[in-house]
Amino acid sequence: MYEILASRVLTTNIYEMVVKAPRIAARCLPGQFLIVRMDERGERIPLTICDYDRTAGTVNIVFQIVGASTKRMAELQTGDAFQDIVGPLGRPSELTEMDAEELKAKKILFVAGGVGTAPVYPQVKWLKEQGVAADVIVGAKTKDLLILEPEMEAVAGNLYITTDDGSYGRSGMVTKTIEDLVSEGKQYDVCIAIGPMIMMKFVCLLTKKLELPTIVSMNPIMVDGTGMCGACRLNVGGQVKFACVDGPEFDGHQVDFDQAMKRQSIYRTEEGRAKLALEEGETHHGGCGNCN
Ligand code: NAD
Ligand code: FES
Repeated sequence: MYEILASRVLTTNIYEMVVKAPRIAARCLPGQFLIVRMDERGERIPLTICDYDRTAGTVNIVFQIVGASTKRMAELQTGDAFQDIVGPLGRPSELTEMDAEELKAKKILFVAGGVGTAPVYPQVKWLKEQGVAADVIVGAKTKDLLILEPEMEAVAGNLYITTDDGSYGRSGMVTKTIEDLVSEGKQYDVCIAIGPMIMMKFVCLLTKKLELPTIVSMNPIMVDGTGMCGACRLNVGGQVKFACVDGPEFDGHQVDFDQAMKRQSIYRTEEGRAKLALEEGETHHGGCGNCN
């Protein structure tokens, strides 16, 4: 069992929990995720690792209520426990594999949208620990929906907050701030964008024009998180990839976002999964058990 040591509401429908999970805390790196199950019959829920403390043996998870399982999860209290946690899953951020000098020479721009701020945070924090100050844009619909601002402020080189309605910070979507920074003379070697798929799609369309290499973190529907079920199938550079084992980070200029968003909605129904099984043949895998 994995005990919840602390829990807090970050904003409407978004929660953070500190969970005792020493083996995951000892090994996880920025960019990775985990899957939790509340009880034996519970749904497997993939979640962002927002922070970790190797000494205390804890991981911080952030989640948004999107359905019945996450609603139940939000009702858990300090002292309650998860039945299972599997992780760390996925490949760590490419940045963690770079030589320290190579990393220090890079000008890095992070673009975080909404709940996507949670997976951006450990990357920026890890970079600060390596002596690298990254610029970070955080976008939220309104001031009330902004999360982790003080935490991000403490680790970012420059933090640019933007709200769609202009209720706080700059006004407009994250793409507007990218354009503004570039026209103010800022230059970057790489952009890392994490947020809703539609945001990552539009960030990539812009950064393609700006010739700015861009990494995105994909979070399609996942079931097993081990490459067996086929749920998280994506098309990247014309090749079939599975976000849970080949990602979650990919070259954003190679990701087929329209296909990913369409597949995400088709996968939700039994009929849709049967259609995908027919269309995708062997690469569908079908290991989730939901599509026969
Ligand atoms: P949101 O809809 O509030 O959007 C956050 C920000 O993204 C906006 O403020 C805006 O600046 C930007 N954005 C949105 N649409 C845009 C567009 N068309 N063009 C340019 N910028 C745009 O975000 P939310 O409600 O927090 O997002 C929830 C979604 O994020 C869920 O679908 C969840 O699955 C996904 N998510 C993704 C990751 C990941 O790893 N990629 C992590 C957590 C959550
Ligand atoms: Fe990726 Fe099953 S969640 S293949």
